[in-house]
Order: sequence, then C-alpha cells, then structure tokens
Amino acid sequence: MEELPKERVPTPPLPPDATPLKTQVSGHFYGQKETKLGMLELKDGTLVKPLIPHKGDKEWVFYHSVFEPSESMTKDIENLRPLLAQYFGIWNTPLHPGINYIKLENITQKFSKPCILDVKVGPRSWQPGSSDEKRVRETQKYPPQSQVGFRLLGLKVYQMASDSYLELDAMYMRKLQPSDILTKGILLYFHVEENIAYKKKILVAFIKQLKKIHDWFSIQTSYHFYASSLLFVYEGLVTDVQIDQELSYEDMVDVRMIDFTHVFPAHGLKDENCFIGVTKLLNQFKAALQLLS
Ligand SMILES: Nc1ncnc2c1ncn2[C@@H]1O[C@H](COP(=O)(O)OP(=O)(O)O)[C@@H](O)[C@H]1O
Ligand SMILES: [Mg+2]
Repeated sequence: MEELPKERVPTPPLPPDATPLKTQVSGHFYGQKETKLGMLELKDGTLVKPLIPHKGDKEWVFYHSVFEPSESMTKDIENLRPLLAQYFGIWNTPLHPGINYIKLENITQKFSKPCILDVKVGPRSWQPGSSDEKRVRETQKYPPQSQVGFRLLGLKVYQMASDSYLELDAMYMRKLQPSDILTKGILLYFHVEENIAYKKKILVAFIKQLKKIHDWFSIQTSYHFYASSLLFVYEGLVTDVQIDQELSYEDMVDVRMIDFTHVFPAHGLKDENCFIGVTKLLNQFKAALQLLS
C-alpha cells in the first residue's frame, strides 16, 4: 500500500517574550520534528518545555510531585530537589492553543559561555511494558548503550582561541564505538587543547557533583527513570587571573537531571538501571581526569 505523506504541521509563531533556546544540545527543537514545538527561553531568564500531547503529561506530574509542598514529603524527594532544575509550574501562550509547557530554571543562564553536554543515563532506555517493537526501536538508536551504560546525545563547547562553539549532535554521537566515547566524546566536551589546568579542576568539580547524584540513586526507592538525562554545564570563558586566584569551582559547573517523560513508581526498589548508568559515567569522568594528569 502506498504510504501517505505525513501531515505537515506549520511552525507555530513565537510569542513576543520567547525565543528558541540558544543553548539547546538535544531533543525537540523549535521548528523541527513533527510537532514543530521545542524548548523556548523567556525574557525572565527561565525556559519552557512543551508537553507533547498524550505523552508529556507524565513529566508535569513528576515535577509537580517533587516540587509541590506536601505533608507527605519524603527524604528521597527532599534530596532530589537540588538535583533537578527548579520547577515553576505550567506556562501557556494563546499563540499555541491546547499546548501546555512546563516552566523550568534555565541552568545555562548564569554562565557567560556555557559548555553543555546531554547524557542519557542507563543501559536500557525503554520503559516497562514496552512492546517488542518499541524495545527493538529504542535499542537500535544506540546498540552499545547496553554495554556502555549511557549515551552521549549532544554537546556544545566554547573554544576561547577562536571565540566559537564546537557542536556535536546525535548523528555524530551515534557513530561512537564504546572505545571512542572517552577520547572522541567526553574529552572533546572538555576541549583539552585549552587551559588544561582549568579543565582538570572542572572535572574534579563535576566528579564531586556526580557522586552526589550517585549517592541519591544508591539509596532512593521512590522513582524509576527511563531515558532521562544528566545535563552538564561549565563556564567556557575564564581568564588566567581567575584561574590563578583559585576560583570557586563549585560555581563554574552545574549538573542536573532532566527529561522525565518516562518516570515510574519504584515500589520500594532501587533504580538499578540509572544507578549503573551513573556509576559508569562517573568512571568515565574519572578516566578523563586521569588522562589529563
Ligand atoms: N533546565 C534546563 N536548563 C538548560 N537547558 C535545558 C534544561 N532542560 C533541558 N535543556 C536543554 O534542552 C534539551 C532538551 O531537553 P529535554 O528535557 O531533554 O527535552 P526532550 O524531551 O525534547 O529530549 C537538552 O538537551 C538541553 O540542551
Ligand atoms: Mg532529552
């Protein structure tokens, strides 16, 4: 049977107080894919993420469950909050009727030249109850993920010498063999040709933050996440004077968990899938640091 052409959805107009998110490295981009909806940044410095009809509501329910004050607040949730971008509720625009957005803290905002990496966590990215077909489709997006434990989705890194950004997208990352992930993926994110001493300190600060996330996964029995990401950001613009003055490296990096379209109750069990993913990623960051030392 002849396949019918997919219905073309026109790109919805941009609201006056919004622009496409400049620092986005992965996912749904405004004006692309079927829905043409994507991340937008607002004039107030926050960002909004569209909830794709029928699929996206889970993410709103999740953020709501974590951030709404509640008497039944657990330790797991209390300790999870600082690991996420802050959540500011639902946002709408009359220009996109029927579409709800969630409003979030833009974690790249405080940086002058943010260097950004999105990593999907866990050896498996299909959710419980997926059909055989869906499992195969998800696995085929990056077969080495089951062994590697995570998948690099995209990065943008600032190069001071040329005052330009190196950008690597999902197409590039998809071709990385497990043995190349460190040298042709993670190390490129740190653009180690420049300022090695600074990059080492950035790596140390990231490892410290990753350990906190690792600790949370080693204890929590509230949520299981599938296909969620860790979003890394560090400052790409530094002066030698700043480096000599022993900057506060905690302020030069940020890591948060993002993308919660496939969240499930944990029924008292740990999230082994994410735990393995974070452990393996932490090991790769430690290996990157060793290579620079
Ligand atoms: N809180 C945030 N702060 C800054 N950038 C973000 C934030 N959340 C997401 N992004 C950017 O948007 C991209 C897509 O976000 P994500 O939640 O993964 O959406 P999708 O469901 O389209 O994959 C990320 O790769 C990242 O570049
Ligand atoms: Mg994503």
